[in-house]
Amino acid sequence: MKALQYHSKEKPLILDDLPDPPTSSDRILYEVLASALNHRDVWICQGLYPGIQPKVTLGSDGVVKHNGQHYMINPGLDWGSDPHLPSDSYTILGMPADGTFAEKIALSQEQLFQTPGHLSVFEAAALPLAGLTAYRLLFIRCQLQASDRVCVTGIGGGVALTALQFAVATGCEVWVTSSSINKIKKAVTLGAAGGQLYTEDQWHKKLLKDSGGFDVIIDSAAGDGFSHLIAMANKGARIGIYGGSKGNISNLSPQRIFWKHLTIFGSSMGNASDFRNMVDFVDQNRIVPVVDSIFKLSDFETAFQRMRMGEQFGKIVFDHKK
Ligand SMILES: NC(=O)c1ccc[n+]([C@@H]2O[C@H](COP(=O)([O-])OP(=O)(O)OC[C@H]3O[C@@H](n4cnc5c(N)ncnc54)[C@H](OP(=O)(O)O)[C@@H]3O)[C@@H](O)[C@H]2O)c1
Repeated sequence: MKALQYHSKEKPLILDDLPDPPTSSDRILYEVLASALNHRDVWICQGLYPGIQPKVTLGSDGVVKHNGQHYMINPGLDWGSDPHLPSDSYTILGMPADGTFAEKIALSQEQLFQTPGHLSVFEAAALPLAGLTAYRLLFIRCQLQASDRVCVTGIGGGVALTALQFAVATGCEVWVTSSSINKIKKAVTLGAAGGQLYTEDQWHKKLLKDSGGFDVIIDSAAGDGFSHLIAMANKGARIGIYGGSKGNISNLSPQRIFWKHLTIFGSSMGNASDFRNMVDFVDQNRIVPVVDSIFKLSDFETAFQRMRMGEQFGKIVFDHKK
């Protein structure tokens, strides 16, 4: 079978002909119909991810076919028995375990969740990792309510867009930030109230004035721009962090955090019950994940480059049948 594997930092990706993955009593072989890129795949290729190993098939998102039905894969492995926290052995499909960028994958049946009927194969492939991350961060960690005014930063991102869709479906007023005015305009068509370019000077002051401040802020950038999020937070606000693309935060004012009674939540992925609830939420609210583009697996270099350059609005998907 064809599989896209990580090899080394110098020559990260090779699309190779490999033997089918080994099966066992609890791991069956499935045909992968479609998969999707996450920023983690890019971080791995850049050597910026913990526990990188050579000759591993990348890819955390995927849809497989089984007995004529389509199933999405929950990419979380070994969450463990505590619903509040993952176990020490928790990992994500696609490093170190072989992932979805392959024609076939061996999986335990408990990783599979039937695709909601309103989603195409490509829309379903766009959902798992982003949906799980956004769902747990918004609803379990930040305890999102319809009355909350929400800010989602970097709206071109896969998780960010899913968070926007989930918060809009909850009835929240949602504002966004982006490096692109076009992406802000597209977010407005999905229900955002408006947004600001985070590339402009003093953008947070304008966004604070336009919106009136935020009860929930969802961010994956961090870095020194994070202090602007603290400035835009209302009293008692919850700030959810799921990434740190812009690095450490060196300029945080403790006074602003305690004076406003803020809570900062870290969150990563989610457990199987979060995944089940996320799929039900998408089904009930007829949410359609945003697909930016669809590539053949053999066009992986163009697809990875699009994500590296931040050109996408939504998920970059691979069609395995082309
Ligand atoms: N902990 C978890 O469970 C988890 C899960 C998924 C992702 N992550 C992490 O979250 C981050 C995003 O992942 P993804 O897969 O959604 O990536 P993605 O689809 O590649 O999106 C990245 C987005 O980050 C935004 N961005 C860049 N610089 C920014 C800044 N200074 N301020 C605000 N936003 C900025 C950009 O938004 P614009 O294009 O709008 O400018 C870009 O589209 C990555 O660091 C990833 O590793 C963590």
